[in-house]
Amino acid sequence: MTTQEPGSADLADRVKQAHRAFPTGVTIVTGKAGEQPFGLAVNAFSSVSLSPPMVLVCINRASSSYPKFFQSQSFGVSILANDQQHVAMRFAKSGGDKFKGLAWHDGACGVPLITEAAAGFELEVVSMLMAGTHVIFIGKVLSAEVSGKAALLYSDGGFYDGAQLAPASQS
Ligand SMILES: Cc1cc2nc3c(=O)[nH]c(=O)nc-3n(C[C@H](O)[C@H](O)[C@H](O)COP(=O)(O)O)c2cc1C
Repeated sequence: MTTQEPGSADLADRVKQAHRAFPTGVTIVTGKAGEQPFGLAVNAFSSVSLSPPMVLVCINRASSSYPKFFQSQSFGVSILANDQQHVAMRFAKSGGDKFKGLAWHDGACGVPLITEAAAGFELEVVSMLMAGTHVIFIGKVLSAEVSGKAALLYSDGGFYDGAQLAPASQS
């Protein structure tokens, strides 16, 4: 195993490489400012608690969406399906109306969600923790929807089809 001095450029590079070794799904984290939906692509998403059900997302404070999330009492998380790479790319660009011409809907609690995603959550913000460049938003689940579609996966900088997974060798 290789380690570097804390704060060194070497460590920063190695940290990026190490993160690339961790495959994730891709989510779109959403909110509403008045009637206008906003959101961004996020893979820093995790389940936190099952009872009560809670999840977290990490949002960069430099993103144009962050000030709107900071003002919000609720947010949505849509787990993208394997045929929604174009949605991930659209929400990975900064600013503009990312919802124009896109299939989205209000969830049961009025939070915008991406239609035909693999799954979606509506959440009430219960905690915000400052953490370096990012803020960790912890949300209590208000509603959850599941489509049965396979997820879009993100690994080592590329997108993959969650329906094409091979079982791991047991040896
Ligand atoms: C696969 C993928 C995962 C991403 N994960 C995150 C994340 O976890 N948190 C974050 O703040 N930005 C993440 N981003 C970057 C934002 O989506 C990107 O900076 C976006 O332009 C922000 O939009 P905004 O400035 O309109 O808010 C990710 C981008 C991609 C493509």
